[in-house]
Amino acid sequence: MSNLGVVILAAGQSKRLKSKISKVRHELAGRPVVSYPIEIAKKLTKDQIYVVISPGQSELENIIQSLEAKVAIQEKPLGTAHAVMQTEKQLSSFSGHILILCGDVPLIRLETLQVLVNKTIKNKSSCGVLTFAIPEPGHYGRIVRNGEGKIIKIVEAKDASPEELETKEVNSGIYCVEKDWLFETLKNIKADNHQKEFYLTDIIEIAIQQNRHPLAILADDPHELLGINSRADLAQVASAMRNRINSWHMANGVSIIAPDQTYIDYDVKIENDVTIWPGTFILGKTTIDQDCVIENGVVIKNSQLAKNVQVKSHSVLENCTVGAESLVGPFARLRPETKLGKKVRVGNFVEIKKSEIQDGSKANHLTYIGDSKIGSQVNVGAGTITCNYDGANKHLTVIEDDVFVGSDVQFIAPVKIGKGATIGAGSTITEDVPPNTLALSRSKQTLKKDWKRPQKKK
Ligand code: UD1
Ligand code: CA
Repeated sequence: MSNLGVVILAAGQSKRLKSKISKVRHELAGRPVVSYPIEIAKKLTKDQIYVVISPGQSELENIIQSLEAKVAIQEKPLGTAHAVMQTEKQLSSFSGHILILCGDVPLIRLETLQVLVNKTIKNKSSCGVLTFAIPEPGHYGRIVRNGEGKIIKIVEAKDASPEELETKEVNSGIYCVEKDWLFETLKNIKADNHQKEFYLTDIIEIAIQQNRHPLAILADDPHELLGINSRADLAQVASAMRNRINSWHMANGVSIIAPDQTYIDYDVKIENDVTIWPGTFILGKTTIDQDCVIENGVVIKNSQLAKNVQVKSHSVLENCTVGAESLVGPFARLRPETKLGKKVRVGNFVEIKKSEIQDGSKANHLTYIGDSKIGSQVNVGAGTITCNYDGANKHLTVIEDDVFVGSDVQFIAPVKIGKGATIGAGSTITEDVPPNTLALSRSKQTLKKDWKRPQKKK
């Protein structure tokens, strides 16, 4: 829509959240809350998106600018009408309609906004407001309609009469308003209410006085208009967001065994025929290709899984890539910059950090691999440790293709093991091993015949 500008209200102290940071910076499905209204605004207009915030919030400014929206500062949180006024200068050369969104209402859908904008414009109304109905309307502003069902005002819960409080239809805080009339009208709003704030909701009564036919449009689904004013609201909105995300994936052919126990962030991508067990967290910008199985208790963050990978119970993966048909876990930990090739097996109690393990190699039990480069078809025995840290610096361990590492081996990095070499169990390897060589560093076994163990004194 070319003649639509968007103003997103996100200033204020977030008092009810009792938080050090603004509520719109809190995380929701892996993104800051404010990113949702911004992303949806970008589907409606190109470069006319303004987010009103309080001063001194550089991190919030960075988030907004990284999403290609513009920042407007409201020096003091004097109310929602005052907040919108802060964008007047930036919008001075714009003409058309302004869509006003709330930074703390992140579940709103594009289709619903399109209904609001289209109906407001079609009816030649100077302003339209989106409303919703809930059984317990709590603090939300109440919509007051006349006998013909037309909106006559919005009254905040704190200013409402007992009769008005009974109303179940409430204000979503989302409006579509003619731009010139909006800024002219904001100047006439007074802070004559319980909170001594300049309420944007007052534009409805002013529109009626001027015969401008304000519209109140009742949304079909109240869930998408839930606002975040407390931690409890944040949890409720997060749960609704999770349902929405899980439904998308299931519609795309992903099997989620227990959707209410599965936590998938907004930016995760999952191909069809993936199976996800309960109690799993798939976070950040993770991608999962076809036929993978993610078992219970697994946490995967910002990682890429190729086709047919199995991540067994209680494994934790972060910033890593896993090649096709590999098997990870149970109880494995893949730390950042781990890169597994195809058909790699990483078993229980194995930790890998900043290492590459190429196709067909195995580390099945109780092992630490850090700062290493391991070739293909390597077998790493149980209890192997790459000693990568000398107390000051990290060093590299290189193990070439077809090496066999026995159990309980320590590699004192930097060290390089040539192709096809064999490392005897229990060895501490301090020097490079040439290809096709057996390296043993354990002491020779001694035998004492008929050895008697000491006895307990009587
Ligand atoms: C507001 C509405 C209420 C509506 C509800 C919907 C008013 C007076 N009330 O109430 O009718 O039912 O939203 O969610 O408009 N903000 C600023 N500057 C300010 C004050 C607020 O930018 O000075 C921003 C907030 O960051 C927030 C939004 O405006 O994103 C709404 O403010 P909030 O304090 O949450 O208002 P509510 O009490 O929820
Ligand atoms: Ca609110």
